[in-house]
Amino acid sequence: EYLFKVLVIGDLGTGKTSFIKRYVHHSFSDHYRATIGVDFALKVIEWDDERVVRLQLWDVAGQERFGNMTRVYYKEAVGCILVYDVNKMSSFEGCNRWKEDLDEKVSLPNGDRIPCVLVGNKKDKDSESEPFVTGNLEEFCKSKGYAGWFETSAKDNINVDETIKFLISCVSDVK
Ligand code: GTP
Ligand code: MG
Repeated sequence: EYLFKVLVIGDLGTGKTSFIKRYVHHSFSDHYRATIGVDFALKVIEWDDERVVRLQLWDVAGQERFGNMTRVYYKEAVGCILVYDVNKMSSFEGCNRWKEDLDEKVSLPNGDRIPCVLVGNKKDKDSESEPFVTGNLEEFCKSKGYAGWFETSAKDNINVDETIKFLISCVSDVK
Protein backbone atom coordinates (compact mmCIF):
# COMPACT_ATOMS: atom_id res chain seq x y z
CA GLU A 1 0.00 0.00 0.00
CA TYR A 2 1.32 3.40 -1.03
CA LEU A 3 0.44 6.87 0.18
CA PHE A 4 1.14 9.59 -2.37
CA LYS A 5 0.76 13.23 -1.56
CA VAL A 6 0.00 15.13 -4.76
CA LEU A 7 -0.30 18.91 -5.08
CA VAL A 8 -2.73 20.67 -7.37
CA ILE A 9 -1.55 24.23 -7.97
CA GLY A 10 -2.01 27.05 -10.48
CA ASP A 11 -3.59 30.47 -10.83
CA LEU A 12 -6.98 31.55 -9.49
CA GLY A 13 -10.01 30.05 -11.17
CA THR A 14 -8.17 27.72 -13.54
CA GLY A 15 -10.25 24.78 -12.32
CA LYS A 16 -8.12 22.99 -9.73
CA THR A 17 -11.02 22.31 -7.37
CA SER A 18 -13.24 21.31 -10.30
CA PHE A 19 -10.58 18.93 -11.60
CA ILE A 20 -10.35 17.21 -8.23
CA LYS A 21 -14.12 17.15 -7.82
CA ARG A 22 -14.49 15.55 -11.24
CA TYR A 23 -11.86 12.94 -10.44
CA VAL A 24 -12.96 12.09 -6.91
CA HIS A 25 -16.72 12.73 -6.95
CA HIS A 26 -17.53 12.47 -10.68
CA SER A 27 -19.36 15.78 -10.60
CA PHE A 28 -19.06 19.37 -11.81
CA SER A 29 -20.55 22.73 -10.91
CA ASP A 30 -20.48 26.03 -12.81
CA HIS A 31 -20.56 27.88 -9.55
CA TYR A 32 -17.20 29.40 -8.56
CA ARG A 33 -16.20 29.48 -4.96
CA ALA A 34 -12.54 30.36 -4.45
CA THR A 35 -10.58 27.95 -2.28
CA ILE A 36 -9.18 29.49 0.86
CA GLY A 37 -5.80 28.15 1.92
CA VAL A 38 -5.85 24.47 1.09
CA ASP A 39 -8.43 21.68 0.74
CA PHE A 40 -7.91 17.95 0.77
CA ALA A 41 -9.35 14.99 -1.02
CA LEU A 42 -8.49 11.32 -0.80
CA LYS A 43 -8.91 8.70 -3.47
CA VAL A 44 -8.08 5.04 -3.05
CA ILE A 45 -6.97 3.41 -6.27
CA GLU A 46 -6.45 -0.27 -6.98
CA TRP A 47 -3.38 0.33 -9.09
CA ASP A 48 -2.74 -3.31 -9.97
CA ASP A 49 -3.16 -6.77 -8.43
CA GLU A 50 -0.62 -6.07 -5.74
CA ARG A 51 -0.69 -2.35 -5.13
CA VAL A 52 -3.22 -0.01 -3.63
CA VAL A 53 -2.47 3.70 -3.94
CA ARG A 54 -3.95 6.12 -1.45
CA LEU A 55 -3.84 9.39 -3.30
CA GLN A 56 -3.95 12.46 -1.12
CA LEU A 57 -4.77 15.50 -3.24
CA TRP A 58 -3.83 18.91 -1.87
CA ASP A 59 -5.95 21.56 -3.53
CA VAL A 60 -3.95 24.75 -3.02
CA ALA A 61 -5.83 28.04 -3.48
CA GLY A 62 -4.70 30.11 -6.46
CA GLN A 63 -4.33 33.12 -4.23
CA GLU A 64 -1.63 31.28 -2.27
CA ARG A 65 0.84 32.12 -5.01
CA PHE A 66 1.20 35.47 -3.31
CA GLY A 67 1.36 34.01 0.16
CA ASN A 68 4.10 32.36 2.10
CA MET A 69 2.37 29.16 3.13
CA THR A 70 3.33 27.16 0.06
CA ARG A 71 6.48 25.80 1.69
CA VAL A 72 4.29 24.21 4.35
CA TYR A 73 1.78 22.82 1.84
CA TYR A 74 4.45 21.41 -0.47
CA LYS A 75 6.24 19.48 2.26
CA GLU A 76 6.73 15.80 1.42
CA ALA A 77 4.70 15.93 -1.78
CA VAL A 78 5.77 13.36 -4.37
CA GLY A 79 3.92 14.73 -7.38
CA CYS A 80 2.23 17.83 -8.73
CA ILE A 81 -0.46 18.89 -11.18
CA LEU A 82 0.00 22.48 -12.37
CA VAL A 83 -3.20 23.83 -13.92
CA TYR A 84 -3.73 26.74 -16.32
CA ASP A 85 -6.83 27.82 -18.25
CA VAL A 86 -6.42 27.23 -22.01
CA ASN A 87 -8.43 30.40 -22.65
CA LYS A 88 -6.38 32.60 -20.38
CA MET A 89 -2.84 33.44 -21.38
CA SER A 90 -1.95 35.02 -18.03
CA SER A 91 -2.65 31.72 -16.26
CA PHE A 92 -0.26 29.94 -18.62
CA GLU A 93 2.43 32.52 -17.96
CA GLY A 94 1.73 32.16 -14.25
CA CYS A 95 2.87 28.54 -14.46
CA ASN A 96 6.48 29.67 -14.66
CA ARG A 97 6.23 31.27 -11.26
CA TRP A 98 4.42 28.31 -9.76
CA LYS A 99 6.94 25.85 -11.15
CA GLU A 100 9.87 27.86 -9.82
CA ASP A 101 8.21 28.12 -6.43
CA LEU A 102 7.60 24.37 -6.42
CA ASP A 103 11.12 23.34 -7.42
CA GLU A 104 12.62 25.77 -4.95
CA LYS A 105 10.64 24.44 -2.01
CA VAL A 106 10.25 20.71 -2.48
CA SER A 107 12.27 17.85 -3.89
CA LEU A 108 12.40 14.08 -3.72
CA PRO A 109 14.55 12.45 -1.00
CA ASN A 110 17.28 11.93 -3.64
CA GLY A 111 17.25 15.64 -4.50
CA ASP A 112 15.43 15.36 -7.82
CA ARG A 113 12.50 17.58 -8.71
CA ILE A 114 9.11 16.02 -7.99
CA PRO A 115 7.26 14.95 -11.14
CA CYS A 116 4.97 17.76 -12.28
CA VAL A 117 2.33 17.49 -15.00
CA LEU A 118 1.24 20.62 -16.84
CA VAL A 119 -2.54 20.75 -17.39
CA GLY A 120 -4.41 23.09 -19.73
CA ASN A 121 -7.97 22.93 -18.40
CA LYS A 122 -11.35 24.19 -19.80
CA LYS A 123 -10.67 22.64 -23.19
CA ASP A 124 -14.44 22.39 -23.71
CA LYS A 125 -14.87 26.15 -23.93
CA ASP A 126 -15.07 27.98 -27.23
CA SER A 127 -12.63 30.79 -26.82
CA GLU A 128 -13.27 34.20 -28.41
CA SER A 129 -9.54 34.69 -28.83
CA GLU A 130 -6.99 32.73 -30.79
CA PRO A 131 -5.58 29.79 -28.86
CA PHE A 132 -2.23 30.86 -27.42
CA VAL A 133 -0.94 27.34 -27.14
CA THR A 134 -0.93 25.50 -30.42
CA GLY A 135 0.54 22.22 -31.40
CA ASN A 136 2.60 20.08 -29.15
CA LEU A 137 4.16 21.25 -25.93
CA GLU A 138 6.53 18.30 -25.73
CA GLU A 139 9.67 20.37 -26.26
CA PHE A 140 8.45 23.14 -24.00
CA CYS A 141 7.79 20.64 -21.22
CA LYS A 142 11.20 19.11 -21.58
CA SER A 143 12.93 22.46 -21.33
CA LYS A 144 10.87 23.55 -18.32
CA GLY A 145 11.18 20.23 -16.53
CA TYR A 146 7.58 19.04 -16.71
CA ALA A 147 6.98 15.29 -16.72
CA GLY A 148 4.19 15.69 -19.26
CA TRP A 149 1.29 17.74 -20.54
CA PHE A 150 -2.47 17.26 -20.95
CA GLU A 151 -5.38 19.34 -22.13
CA THR A 152 -8.41 18.62 -20.01
CA SER A 153 -11.98 19.54 -19.23
CA ALA A 154 -13.26 19.08 -15.72
CA LYS A 155 -16.67 19.98 -17.11
CA ASP A 156 -16.85 17.39 -19.89
CA ASN A 157 -14.58 14.88 -18.18
CA ILE A 158 -11.80 14.95 -20.75
CA ASN A 159 -8.36 13.59 -19.84
CA VAL A 160 -8.87 13.91 -16.09
CA ASP A 161 -8.33 10.23 -15.27
CA GLU A 162 -5.55 10.07 -17.85
CA THR A 163 -3.67 12.92 -16.18
CA ILE A 164 -3.80 11.29 -12.75
CA LYS A 165 -2.88 7.91 -14.14
CA PHE A 166 0.14 9.36 -15.91
CA LEU A 167 1.28 11.23 -12.81
CA ILE A 168 0.97 8.14 -10.62
CA SER A 169 3.04 6.17 -13.09
CA CYS A 170 5.73 8.87 -12.92
CA VAL A 171 5.64 8.82 -9.12
CA SER A 172 5.74 5.01 -8.99
CA ASP A 173 8.77 5.03 -11.28
CA VAL A 174 10.81 7.15 -8.94
CA LYS A 175 9.49 5.64 -5.69
P1 GTP B 1 -9.15 28.87 -6.82
O1 GTP B 1 -9.66 27.98 -5.73
O2 GTP B 1 -9.62 30.28 -6.64
O3 GTP B 1 -7.68 28.82 -6.98
O4 GTP B 1 -9.82 28.38 -8.21
P2 GTP B 1 -9.82 26.90 -8.83
O5 GTP B 1 -8.61 26.72 -9.66
O6 GTP B 1 -10.07 25.89 -7.77
O7 GTP B 1 -11.05 26.95 -9.84
P3 GTP B 1 -12.48 26.26 -9.70
O8 GTP B 1 -12.35 24.79 -9.82
O9 GTP B 1 -13.17 26.78 -8.53
O10 GTP B 1 -13.17 26.75 -11.06
C1 GTP B 1 -13.30 28.13 -11.37
C2 GTP B 1 -14.44 28.33 -12.36
O11 GTP B 1 -14.15 27.69 -13.59
C3 GTP B 1 -15.76 27.70 -11.88
O12 GTP B 1 -16.83 28.54 -12.25
C4 GTP B 1 -15.83 26.38 -12.63
O13 GTP B 1 -17.15 25.97 -12.86
C5 GTP B 1 -15.12 26.74 -13.93
N1 GTP B 1 -14.48 25.56 -14.54
C6 GTP B 1 -13.61 24.71 -13.94
N2 GTP B 1 -13.21 23.75 -14.78
C7 GTP B 1 -13.84 23.98 -15.96
C8 GTP B 1 -13.84 23.32 -17.24
O14 GTP B 1 -13.18 22.31 -17.48
N3 GTP B 1 -14.62 23.88 -18.22
C9 GTP B 1 -15.37 25.00 -18.00
N4 GTP B 1 -16.08 25.46 -19.02
N5 GTP B 1 -15.39 25.64 -16.82
C10 GTP B 1 -14.64 25.14 -15.81
MG1 MG C 1 -10.23 26.04 -5.77
